[in-house]
Amino acid sequence: MAPQTLLCGRIASPEAPLRCAVLLSGSGSGMEALVRAQRTDRLSHVTTLVISNQSDAYGLERARQLNVHHVVVGHLDDGGQRLSREEHEHRLLAELEAHDIELIVLAGYMRLLSPVMLGRWSGRIVNIHPSLLPNFPGAHAHRDVLASKTQLSGCTVHMVDEGMDTGAVLAQATVPVFHDDTEASLSARVKIEEHRLYPQVLSWIATGRVTLTPNGVLLDGATPPRVC
Ligand code: GAR
Repeated sequence: MAPQTLLCGRIASPEAPLRCAVLLSGSGSGMEALVRAQRTDRLSHVTTLVISNQSDAYGLERARQLNVHHVVVGHLDDGGQRLSREEHEHRLLAELEAHDIELIVLAGYMRLLSPVMLGRWSGRIVNIHPSLLPNFPGAHAHRDVLASKTQLSGCTVHMVDEGMDTGAVLAQATVPVFHDDTEASLSARVKIEEHRLYPQVLSWIATGRVTLTPNGVLLDGATPPRVC
């Protein structure tokens, strides 16, 4: 049997929860839903750090209101020069290390990660995407779903690799697409499922139900995705 390692590195518990950093670029509704679930449901994971690459992201205000430590890691240096992707990620790495983070949770973080980040954190970064991957990857999932005339969409929690929404899928949830949907109405329906699914999948990870093998990711010893 192929060797298996825990994705989270240890079995966490409500008393010793997995320390997560949420990375976001925008509104942060997913981060807020996650933090609220962690606080009300006594989960085995906790958000101890929120990082935004955008200084005007509303997610920062939500983090402030929730009293979660939050920082901006922007794309300019002190002299106003644009940082390279690698320089930016070295700054991210320093924040993650300073806060003793165990899992990176992307929630509307609209940047691809480079080998700098993946080399250090490979297997410990998850993302949520607002479509049923592998269909409709990228930054305009809802627009692409509506243009395709499909009647089914949803969201996907997946491992992060160097590709655009290409990592191993852990779980998916579905929603109907209606003929009169707009991007806004579809996004709102998908977000209801996102906000339910992400805390659940993070609990699987934190409690050791997700393992990494040389052949890929397993959930409860079987090949995901699980449709929830
Ligand atoms: C969410 O729908 C998330 O799935 C999506 O951005 C939105 C962020 O909303 N992510 C992507 O499209 C990543 N490719 P939020 O800032 O309100 O949580």
